[in-house]
Amino acid sequence: MRLLAAELVDSREILPGQWIQAFHAPHLANGSRAGQFVHVRPGDWSGLVLRRPFSINTADPASGIVTIHFRTIGRGTEWFTRLRAGDAIDMLGPLGRPFEVDPRSRHLLLVAGGLGMAGVRMLADEAIRDGREVTLLFGAASAREVYPSSLLPDEVEYVVATDDGSMGHAGFVTELVPEYEAWADQAFACGPQPMLAALARLAATRRGRMGVAKLGRKRGGGKMDPVGSPAARRKAFLQVSMEQNMGCAVGACLGCVVMSSSGTPQRVCREGPVFSAEEIAWEAGW
Ligand SMILES: Cc1cc2nc3c(=O)[nH]c(=O)nc-3n(C[C@H](O)[C@H](O)[C@H](O)COP(=O)(O)OP(=O)(O)OC[C@H]3O[C@@H](n4cnc5c(N)ncnc54)[C@H](O)[C@@H]3O)c2cc1C
Ligand code: FES
Repeated sequence: MRLLAAELVDSREILPGQWIQAFHAPHLANGSRAGQFVHVRPGDWSGLVLRRPFSINTADPASGIVTIHFRTIGRGTEWFTRLRAGDAIDMLGPLGRPFEVDPRSRHLLLVAGGLGMAGVRMLADEAIRDGREVTLLFGAASAREVYPSSLLPDEVEYVVATDDGSMGHAGFVTELVPEYEAWADQAFACGPQPMLAALARLAATRRGRMGVAKLGRKRGGGKMDPVGSPAARRKAFLQVSMEQNMGCAVGACLGCVVMSSSGTPQRVCREGPVFSAEEIAWEAGW
């Protein structure tokens, strides 16, 4: 993790109120993994004190460019849209734990709800680069909020659901998942918490419903990987990227905790933002 000045090279509104900004930040572009995030400081003249967290949307080591994809919902994100090419902002990162892909997984199912696309977008690039097949299920309220397919790698199978039925499947994106469960070796999701909770319920019953073996099972019962370790997450069918309001983003303020299924508070900024779905107590109401 490093604090660095990142220079804006491109800023565009890709959908109403949704922006992708590209920054020249070679250290981040080289050292980041899918699922990690940056903590960005609005400039002194913004009047804002707290940094804002954003998923690393894409990272290109060759050009040294990282992108973030955000929706304007308050003063911080509004302020970022006024930046111009050549402006430098202060970025802390890469932060948090990344997605963990089992080396044996060939078929990855990515599920994104709305701005959750930014949480899984880089994983699509990494998976394609590593020769895996990727299906990305994307849910939005309506067609006008559907992420453009032109911004995804050609190799990705992209399936859309809209709540109002104006594009793709009419209904929630989670309704598409059963169709792909048998194909997928692992699934990775980011989006609104009810969407993640619904996916976690599906994943919890998957083995019983489909009679599939758990990844990494050892004959005679091998030593268990500690819960929350990269090795344990790598064996989970479903990993989720959580978004909680954050203060410090480095583990000090406890402003971002969620409850684990064993009753231990987990800091989204340090133990997350990626967790295996079974680590989280979804009904705990944190
Ligand atoms: C690990 C992580 C990754 C994130 N990645 C992205 C991303 O890639 N793209 C993106 O658009 N957003 C992302 N977010 C959310 C983003 O940080 C907030 O939208 C942003 O900080 C809002 O700043 P603001 O000053 O515009 O809004 P504020 O004025 O701070 O808040 C406006 C409204 O947004 C709500 N809000 C603020 N932060 C969050 C949050 N973290 N989650 C839900 N609601 C929030 C506030 O409660 C308030 O109602 C991420 C959050 C986390 C924790
Ligand atoms: S934001 Fe401070 S501990 Fe996570």
